[in-house]
Amino acid sequence: MKHIYEAGSDPAAPVLLLLHGTGGTERDLLGIAQYIDSSASILSVRGNVLENGMPRFFRRIAEGVFDIEDLKFRTAELNEFIDQAAEQYGFDRKRVVAIGYSNGANIAASLLFHYQDALMGASLHHPMVPLRDIALPDLNSAQVFMAAGKNDPICPPQESEELRELLEGAGASVELLWENSGHQLTRSEVEAAKKWYEASFKQ
Ligand code: MLT
Repeated sequence: MKHIYEAGSDPAAPVLLLLHGTGGTERDLLGIAQYIDSSASILSVRGNVLENGMPRFFRRIAEGVFDIEDLKFRTAELNEFIDQAAEQYGFDRKRVVAIGYSNGANIAASLLFHYQDALMGASLHHPMVPLRDIALPDLNSAQVFMAAGKNDPICPPQESEELRELLEGAGASVELLWENSGHQLTRSEVEAAKKWYEASFKQ
Protein backbone atom coordinates (compact mmCIF):
# COMPACT_ATOMS: atom_id res chain seq x y z
CA MET A 1 0.00 0.00 0.00
CA LYS A 2 1.20 3.57 -0.59
CA HIS A 3 2.56 4.82 2.71
CA ILE A 4 5.07 6.85 4.68
CA TYR A 5 7.20 5.30 7.40
CA GLU A 6 9.23 7.51 9.72
CA ALA A 7 11.28 5.94 12.50
CA GLY A 8 10.84 7.78 15.81
CA SER A 9 13.50 8.61 18.37
CA ASP A 10 11.89 6.52 21.16
CA PRO A 11 12.04 2.78 20.42
CA ALA A 12 9.75 2.11 23.43
CA ALA A 13 6.95 4.32 22.08
CA PRO A 14 4.05 2.73 20.17
CA VAL A 15 4.02 2.92 16.37
CA LEU A 16 1.33 5.34 15.22
CA LEU A 17 -0.74 3.98 12.32
CA LEU A 18 -2.34 6.96 10.56
CA LEU A 19 -5.56 6.43 8.58
CA HIS A 20 -7.02 9.41 6.71
CA GLY A 21 -10.61 10.33 5.89
CA THR A 22 -12.33 10.06 2.49
CA GLY A 23 -10.44 12.06 -0.13
CA GLY A 24 -7.37 12.34 2.09
CA THR A 25 -3.83 11.06 1.76
CA GLU A 26 -1.08 9.62 3.91
CA ARG A 27 0.09 13.18 4.61
CA ASP A 28 -3.13 14.42 6.30
CA LEU A 29 -2.56 13.23 9.87
CA LEU A 30 1.22 13.72 10.10
CA GLY A 31 0.85 16.97 12.05
CA ILE A 32 -1.54 15.36 14.53
CA ALA A 33 0.79 12.39 15.03
CA GLN A 34 3.68 14.79 15.65
CA TYR A 35 1.55 16.62 18.24
CA ILE A 36 0.39 13.42 19.98
CA ASP A 37 3.86 11.84 20.23
CA SER A 38 6.78 13.47 18.43
CA SER A 39 9.08 10.61 19.48
CA ALA A 40 6.94 7.75 18.08
CA SER A 41 7.50 5.97 14.78
CA ILE A 42 4.82 6.62 12.18
CA LEU A 43 3.26 4.35 9.57
CA SER A 44 0.84 6.41 7.53
CA VAL A 45 -1.14 4.61 4.84
CA ARG A 46 -3.17 5.72 1.84
CA GLY A 47 -6.44 3.83 1.26
CA ASN A 48 -6.35 1.52 -1.78
CA VAL A 49 -9.87 2.30 -2.99
CA LEU A 50 -10.79 5.29 -5.18
CA GLU A 51 -14.28 6.83 -5.12
CA ASN A 52 -14.49 9.40 -7.93
CA GLY A 53 -10.77 9.98 -7.51
CA MET A 54 -10.95 10.19 -3.69
CA PRO A 55 -8.85 7.69 -1.74
CA ARG A 56 -10.73 5.55 0.80
CA PHE A 57 -9.97 2.43 2.81
CA PHE A 58 -13.00 0.44 1.54
CA ARG A 59 -15.90 0.83 -0.87
CA ARG A 60 -19.30 2.16 0.07
CA ILE A 61 -22.63 1.83 -1.69
CA ALA A 62 -23.87 5.22 -0.46
CA GLU A 63 -22.92 7.61 2.34
CA GLY A 64 -22.95 5.56 5.53
CA VAL A 65 -23.82 2.32 3.65
CA PHE A 66 -20.74 0.16 3.44
CA ASP A 67 -19.82 -2.58 0.96
CA ILE A 68 -19.30 -5.21 3.67
CA GLU A 69 -17.50 -7.75 1.45
CA ASP A 70 -15.03 -5.08 0.39
CA LEU A 71 -14.68 -3.86 3.98
CA LYS A 72 -13.73 -7.40 5.10
CA PHE A 73 -11.29 -7.81 2.21
CA ARG A 74 -9.66 -4.39 2.80
CA THR A 75 -9.44 -4.97 6.56
CA ALA A 76 -7.49 -8.21 5.95
CA GLU A 77 -5.35 -6.44 3.34
CA LEU A 78 -4.47 -3.61 5.75
CA ASN A 79 -3.71 -6.06 8.58
CA GLU A 80 -1.34 -8.00 6.30
CA PHE A 81 0.25 -4.75 5.18
CA ILE A 82 0.98 -3.82 8.83
CA ASP A 83 2.49 -7.32 9.38
CA GLN A 84 4.77 -6.82 6.37
CA ALA A 85 5.70 -3.27 7.37
CA ALA A 86 6.69 -4.49 10.86
CA GLU A 87 9.10 -6.96 9.25
CA GLN A 88 10.41 -4.51 6.68
CA TYR A 89 10.99 -1.62 9.11
CA GLY A 90 11.75 -3.70 12.20
CA PHE A 91 9.08 -2.36 14.56
CA ASP A 92 7.17 -4.29 17.23
CA ARG A 93 3.94 -5.52 15.56
CA LYS A 94 2.27 -5.79 18.97
CA ARG A 95 2.67 -2.07 19.72
CA VAL A 96 0.62 -0.40 16.99
CA VAL A 97 -1.82 2.38 17.92
CA ALA A 98 -4.12 3.65 15.14
CA ILE A 99 -5.16 7.27 14.74
CA GLY A 100 -8.05 7.34 12.29
CA TYR A 101 -10.42 10.01 11.08
CA SER A 102 -13.84 9.26 9.56
CA ASN A 103 -13.31 6.54 6.91
CA GLY A 104 -9.89 5.87 8.49
CA ALA A 105 -11.52 5.52 11.93
CA ASN A 106 -13.99 3.07 10.43
CA ILE A 107 -11.32 0.74 9.05
CA ALA A 108 -9.43 1.02 12.37
CA ALA A 109 -12.63 -0.05 14.17
CA SER A 110 -12.94 -2.91 11.65
CA LEU A 111 -9.38 -4.04 12.51
CA LEU A 112 -10.46 -4.17 16.17
CA PHE A 113 -13.66 -6.05 15.24
CA HIS A 114 -11.75 -8.72 13.26
CA TYR A 115 -8.42 -9.29 15.02
CA GLN A 116 -7.42 -9.57 18.66
CA ASP A 117 -3.87 -8.33 18.14
CA ALA A 118 -4.05 -5.97 15.17
CA LEU A 119 -4.01 -2.84 17.36
CA MET A 120 -2.85 -2.17 20.92
CA GLY A 121 -5.03 0.91 20.88
CA ALA A 122 -6.92 3.27 18.64
CA SER A 123 -7.89 6.92 18.59
CA LEU A 124 -11.09 6.96 16.56
CA HIS A 125 -12.22 10.38 15.36
CA HIS A 126 -15.87 10.42 14.23
CA PRO A 127 -16.18 6.67 13.68
CA MET A 128 -19.25 4.60 12.83
CA VAL A 129 -20.08 0.96 13.55
CA PRO A 130 -18.11 -0.64 10.69
CA LEU A 131 -20.23 -3.79 10.50
CA ARG A 132 -22.74 -5.74 12.56
CA ASP A 133 -23.45 -9.43 13.13
CA ILE A 134 -19.86 -10.34 13.85
CA ALA A 135 -18.45 -11.87 17.05
CA LEU A 136 -15.71 -9.55 18.27
CA PRO A 137 -12.41 -10.99 19.50
CA ASP A 138 -11.28 -10.61 23.12
CA LEU A 139 -10.22 -6.95 23.29
CA ASN A 140 -9.31 -6.87 26.99
CA SER A 141 -5.94 -5.33 26.33
CA ALA A 142 -7.15 -2.70 23.82
CA GLN A 143 -7.32 0.98 24.79
CA VAL A 144 -9.72 3.04 22.68
CA PHE A 145 -10.42 6.76 22.51
CA MET A 146 -13.42 7.96 20.53
CA ALA A 147 -14.36 11.53 19.62
CA ALA A 148 -17.88 12.26 18.39
CA GLY A 149 -19.86 15.33 17.46
CA LYS A 150 -23.43 15.74 18.76
CA ASN A 151 -24.33 17.43 15.48
CA ASP A 152 -22.50 15.09 13.14
CA PRO A 153 -24.70 14.57 10.04
CA ILE A 154 -22.63 11.54 8.95
CA CYS A 155 -22.32 9.65 12.27
CA PRO A 156 -25.58 9.78 14.26
CA PRO A 157 -24.92 9.95 18.05
CA GLN A 158 -26.54 6.56 18.68
CA GLU A 159 -23.95 5.00 16.35
CA SER A 160 -21.10 6.28 18.52
CA GLU A 161 -22.83 4.89 21.62
CA GLU A 162 -23.40 1.56 19.87
CA LEU A 163 -19.74 1.37 18.86
CA ARG A 164 -18.68 2.11 22.43
CA GLU A 165 -21.00 -0.65 23.73
CA LEU A 166 -19.72 -3.20 21.21
CA LEU A 167 -16.07 -2.46 22.02
CA GLU A 168 -16.66 -2.44 25.78
CA GLY A 169 -18.67 -5.66 25.45
CA ALA A 170 -15.53 -7.26 23.97
CA GLY A 171 -13.47 -6.03 26.92
CA ALA A 172 -11.85 -2.89 25.49
CA SER A 173 -11.33 0.19 27.69
CA VAL A 174 -13.14 3.00 25.92
CA GLU A 175 -13.11 6.74 26.53
CA LEU A 176 -15.75 8.60 24.51
CA LEU A 177 -15.53 12.37 24.15
CA TRP A 178 -18.68 14.24 23.08
CA GLU A 179 -18.44 17.71 21.61
CA ASN A 180 -21.04 20.12 20.24
CA SER A 181 -19.42 19.75 16.84
CA GLY A 182 -20.19 18.13 13.50
CA HIS A 183 -18.04 15.69 11.52
CA GLN A 184 -14.93 17.88 11.48
CA LEU A 185 -11.82 17.04 13.46
CA THR A 186 -11.47 19.64 16.22
CA ARG A 187 -8.40 20.95 17.97
CA SER A 188 -9.93 20.16 21.37
CA GLU A 189 -10.58 16.51 20.48
CA VAL A 190 -6.96 16.13 19.37
CA GLU A 191 -5.86 17.64 22.71
CA ALA A 192 -8.08 15.11 24.52
CA ALA A 193 -6.63 12.30 22.37
CA LYS A 194 -3.12 13.32 23.40
CA LYS A 195 -4.09 13.18 27.10
CA TRP A 196 -5.67 9.73 26.60
CA TYR A 197 -2.58 8.54 24.68
CA GLU A 198 -0.17 9.71 27.37
CA ALA A 199 -2.23 8.15 30.17
CA SER A 200 -2.56 4.88 28.23
CA PHE A 201 0.88 4.37 26.72
CA LYS A 202 3.45 6.71 28.28
CA GLN A 203 3.19 5.76 31.95
C1 MLT B 1 -17.35 6.23 5.56
O1 MLT B 1 -17.74 6.11 4.42
O2 MLT B 1 -16.42 5.58 6.03
C2 MLT B 1 -18.07 7.22 6.40
O3 MLT B 1 -19.25 7.59 5.80
C3 MLT B 1 -17.25 8.40 6.69
C4 MLT B 1 -16.77 9.05 5.44
O4 MLT B 1 -17.45 9.89 4.89
O5 MLT B 1 -15.69 8.72 5.01
